[in-house]
Amino acid sequence: MASIWVFHGPNLNLVGLREPEHYGSHTLLEINQEIVQTANQVGMIAECRQTNHEGDLIDWIQALSPEDFLILNPGAWTHTSYAIRDAIKAVSVPTVEVHLSNIHAREAFRANSVIAPVCIGQVSGLGADGYILALRYAIDYQNRHSEKVIESGN
Ligand code: DQA
Repeated sequence: MASIWVFHGPNLNLVGLREPEHYGSHTLLEINQEIVQTANQVGMIAECRQTNHEGDLIDWIQALSPEDFLILNPGAWTHTSYAIRDAIKAVSVPTVEVHLSNIHAREAFRANSVIAPVCIGQVSGLGADGYILALRYAIDYQNRHSEKVIESGN
């Protein structure tokens, strides 16, 4: 069954404690709970994971398929990881990149995302709400996709 996955990259386990002026005061647990509940309300399943290890994230992405949907906050790997970019491209999983802070309004190095070119789009600067907006998009996307599969009889 197609699923919505939410992967958080390095240091995002510290959200709520870490630089609240940039990342807000909600903990990752609270953010994940809201994501899971919002998906459940419309009968969908969202699974959230966090890692500080780049290889783990690459393995998780490689296990996805084009029928899944990925909401990804790559943390600082946003600005550096061609390996994560290649993994998304390799499995053709539809992906939306999310950032709690506005990466375009901070240090110059944050403004460039090497991940964004392989994503449908990017949500940046809307705090924890950004995940919920990306989730609503993912739900619509999955509904549209499953209608197409039913129409074509596949
Ligand atoms: C972040 C922005 C990144 O530049 C930073 O390295 C993070 C968090 C965000 O959610 O705003 O770890 O991805």
